[in-house]
Amino acid sequence: MRLALSRRPHTIAPVFFYDERGSWLFEAICQQPEYYVTRVEMGMLQEHAAAIAERIGPDAELVEFGAGSSRKFRTLLAALHAPRRYVPIDVSGAHLQQEAAALRRDHPLLEVTPVVADFMQPFRLPPSRPAARQRVGLYLGSSLGNFDADEARAFLAMAGRALAGGGLLVGIDLVKDPAVLHAAYNDAAGVTAAFNRNLLVRANHELHTDFHPERFYHHACYAPALQRVEMHLVSMTRQTVRLDGESFTLAEGESLHTECAHKFTLNGFRALSESVGLQPGTVWLDAQRWFALQWLDCPPLTGSDPFPGAHRPSPT
Ligand code: TRP
Repeated sequence: MRLALSRRPHTIAPVFFYDERGSWLFEAICQQPEYYVTRVEMGMLQEHAAAIAERIGPDAELVEFGAGSSRKFRTLLAALHAPRRYVPIDVSGAHLQQEAAALRRDHPLLEVTPVVADFMQPFRLPPSRPAARQRVGLYLGSSLGNFDADEARAFLAMAGRALAGGGLLVGIDLVKDPAVLHAAYNDAAGVTAAFNRNLLVRANHELHTDFHPERFYHHACYAPALQRVEMHLVSMTRQTVRLDGESFTLAEGESLHTECAHKFTLNGFRALSESVGLQPGTVWLDAQRWFALQWLDCPPLTGSDPFPGAHRPSPT
């Protein structure tokens, strides 16, 4: 938040959206009629569950980055061949534990090991189960699009090491008619606006700032040349915000740039993946070509690990 206020343009890491209320608001976004992302992706997971399960293979350990709700994993679960374990990772601890408990209740034979972490920071995965043949990652919902290009590469490189010898299934939202994108990020019910403003509510609670969230407009627009939706909170008036004894003044019309949602072309995303050594395989598309589920093979680690520690499965 300090960086966001002191840097121009102001920006914030996506992880800060997902406190308990943020996770709840995001679930509500997913149910808005204009927000096609979740609906289209869920439809694809249902339709292609058998083929995806085939690609994942038997005895796999599934690691879901930014798991949120377990709905998508549940859709795949029915089709998976003898999954050894499910490891959902999320920053929103309470939400994660609830989902894990519900999943255990419904699938008593499935081992569920939630990890509360920001996976862009060093974190440790639990050691692989000896019976697991490979680790497969899921990174769905086009969350990758909320990173800039360097962060996206860093994520893919980290996941490639954590899943070495296995694979990663990434859900990416594709470049499309800006009108569709505009509607998706400006839902009529104002849920996306509330989600965006929740950042300020959260800053007030946790950083003791004195934002007035109602003095900011939610503004989301697609920038075609940059292939991204930009989310802003625009100050309605000239106002001053205090943080740790410092004051920051926002002019009327000045915005906090809270988030980007990058859209991809298939070729662009494959090139990005290849730049960090991952190998694009099967891709699944919906009939309108709005969304893609891209499989990436993660090559086995060879020789000495240049990144010892954090992300490697420990030997069992
Ligand atoms: N991964 C989601 C997306 O880019 C996150 C998201 C949806 C989002 N709506 C938002 C993030 C509004 C910030 C503000 O589609």
